Amino acid sequence: MATTQSIAAALLLLTAGAQAHFTLNYPPSIGFDDAKEGTGPCGGVTPDFSKNEFTDFHVGGDNVGTRTSHPQGNWLYRVTLDPGASANWTQVYPIVQQSGIGDFCAPLVRIPDEFVGKQGILSVVGSGGHGFLYQCAALNFVEGTAELQSACKNASGVTSSFVTDASLAALVGSSTGGNDTAGDADHSDHQDGDHAATKPNGSSSVSALANVSILLGVVMATGIFTLLS
Ligand SMILES: *[C@@H]1O[C@H](CO)[C@@H](O)[C@H](O)[C@H]1NC(C)=O
Ligand SMILES: *[C@@H]1O[C@H](CO)[C@@H](O)[C@H](O)[C@H]1NC(C)=O
Ligand SMILES: *[C@@H]1O[C@H](CO)[C@@H](O)[C@H](O)[C@H]1NC(C)=O
Repeated sequence: MATTQSIAAALLLLTAGAQAHFTLNYPPSIGFDDAKEGTGPCGGVTPDFSKNEFTDFHVGGDNVGTRTSHPQGNWLYRVTLDPGASANWTQVYPIVQQSGIGDFCAPLVRIPDEFVGKQGILSVVGSGGHGFLYQCAALNFVEGTAELQSACKNASGVTSSFVTDASLAALVGSSTGGNDTAGDADHSDHQDGDHAATKPNGSSSVSALANVSILLGVVMATGIFTLLS
């Protein structure tokens, strides 16, 4: 019995450690795949305007709400009218650093007026120790300013400040808007102060190890549950 509990506890710990990711709470994501979230520009999900559910997004200011499991990370919010989300990114909010795990809400993200009446993609890029992570939403850009959505909130204890982050900024502004080659680079954000001491390959080795441990744990737990049932 004690063994089962220890293994369950170990599994929980490992799982918590492995879920170093974020979700887009608002506007709704076009898709979330935990394993592919590091693939830009949309976390391994290809936008499809014939199938995506569009959310009205007010150019005078609207909500972007996220939930992270990283203790600290930087956010880039960018939009494009390119249906393939491959180019022409416009940064729509200063890069903001969140400290503290959990929900974060930017309630007044503004979009250029000329986007009104068009459809586009919002791509939220998070950095926080394991390279970049991506989520996208499909948007109808509309006039006006949004009400605060209940899905957009700040967890207690979460603080934020505007920062400069050259590697995130590199994903916008050029004519190609960055092809997100950096998105696959696990070490692209090692210039962050808190990771300066980390060896470039450190995080990926740790993740690989954690994945193997989880696999072993799952196999063992499955065996035990089978024995018990
Ligand atoms: C990007 O913007 C340029 C200039 O507006 C336009 O010519 C080009 O077609 C756009 N590319 C995509 C993929 O939307
Ligand atoms: C969340 O915190 C940010 C930064 O302090 C703030 O700008 C925003 O208004 C807060 N959002 C809500 C819903 O309170
Ligand atoms: C981005 O992709 C375009 C089209 O595939 C290519 O022409 C361009 O060289 C790429 N840019 C970078 C920085 O890789």
